[in-house]
Amino acid sequence: MSIATTIELISNGRAAGTTCTPDLAAPTWDFDSVPGYGPGSSMSDVIPTSSPRQGVIPDEYRNAPDDELHERIERAKATLGDRVVVLGHFYQRDEVVRHADFLGDSFQLANAALTKPDAEAIVFCGVHFMAETADILARDDQRVILPNLAAGCSMADMADIDSVEAAWAELTALYGTEPDADGRVPVIPVTYMNSAADLKAFCGRNGGIVCTSSNAATVLEWAFERGQRVLFFPDQHLGRNTAKAMGISTDRMPMWNPRLAGGGNTAAELLEAQVVLWHGFCSVHRRFTVDQIEQARREHPGVTVIVHPECPMAVVDAADVAGSTDLIRKTVAAATEPTTFAIGTEINMVNRLAAEYPQHTIFCLDPVVCPCSTMYRIHPGYLAWVLEALVRGEVLNEIVVPAAVQVDAKVALERMLAARPRPLAGQRDPGPAATTATTTDVRA
Ligand code: 13P
Ligand code: SF4
Repeated sequence: MSIATTIELISNGRAAGTTCTPDLAAPTWDFDSVPGYGPGSSMSDVIPTSSPRQGVIPDEYRNAPDDELHERIERAKATLGDRVVVLGHFYQRDEVVRHADFLGDSFQLANAALTKPDAEAIVFCGVHFMAETADILARDDQRVILPNLAAGCSMADMADIDSVEAAWAELTALYGTEPDADGRVPVIPVTYMNSAADLKAFCGRNGGIVCTSSNAATVLEWAFERGQRVLFFPDQHLGRNTAKAMGISTDRMPMWNPRLAGGGNTAAELLEAQVVLWHGFCSVHRRFTVDQIEQARREHPGVTVIVHPECPMAVVDAADVAGSTDLIRKTVAAATEPTTFAIGTEINMVNRLAAEYPQHTIFCLDPVVCPCSTMYRIHPGYLAWVLEALVRGEVLNEIVVPAAVQVDAKVALERMLAARPRPLAGQRDPGPAATTATTTDVRA
């Protein structure tokens, strides 16, 4: 059952359960008139004033029944043929995913676009930083379209270039810039894929690198081979969980609050630091708790708990498996015996896994229905609007990363692609870190 149907049933009192806000049942179009991320998990986060807003789209899309929108999307796609590729992130609603040529995680999708060389337009049903990454990796003549410009990412928005530049100036003033006896510079910047293109470019310019949730450990190893410490942004949880799993003490991971001098730390704390963690988080993954895991274990003895590393450390520690969206999907796909899985990630993905693998019992750890607010912004009405415009030769909602930013951001992305996990004793070279992220094992 799609999230929209679930929300409708709960809102009308026809199904048991709760949603995090009754506004989820309001028409999508209403969300774009309110300043904020909209209803869902990040609705209480502060939206930067510079965030793009989506204008009102024509009534013919706002008033069209769902069946008509689906027909119009299919017709436009058939007319455009190979000239367009539609990408759908795992967290998108089913009504959008059904039109996607590829379904996958953010980096798989950015690469999937490259497998369609005839595509003049890449319609990215995901969030803003994903469309930017696709634009960086795509050919110059390929146009990248985000169907709703307000589909940002509240976590990515928690680190902006000015605050990161200011933090960098403070840290380099404290640490200096001279390498140690092993040639390691004082600090290396590492940005999570979930960040604006100008932050990826910042890393490219300053000897840094990008990571995804599937290769964060390899990327941190890469960084520690070249630097004494790391400044990790924007997600504190991915940074902390990854560094802790590598054996780094949490005492040596101070948090950098961009609103405070020294990030809220003393010089001594910063000098002791191995990983300085930016004060960012994902409001979807912050909802998962150890109590929910304990309840799942009580109610479903033998349950396998899988969570995303954007969850808080205590949740990751209490889970059986922690890993990226791709790892979550692969773990479920690999289970040969009927298994009960409690999953701590976005609800659209969990519900889709439950539908795809009926031999297993699969449920979301969070009993409250609360999708990612920004992924939720994309609705078939927007998809029909941008696709029909393409048929007329018009490109709407184009995401363009300036050339200078692209050059530096590509440096940081290419470092990630070249980073290799350290082989274990007696093991063959396991290949580049980004192997899982560069596969095209997305559903056609
Ligand atoms: P992926 O990089 O696995 O697609 O995850 C993106 C995301 O937004 C997780 O919250
Ligand atoms: Fe951003 Fe979290 Fe939504 Fe992912 S789930 S797009 S990190 S707000």
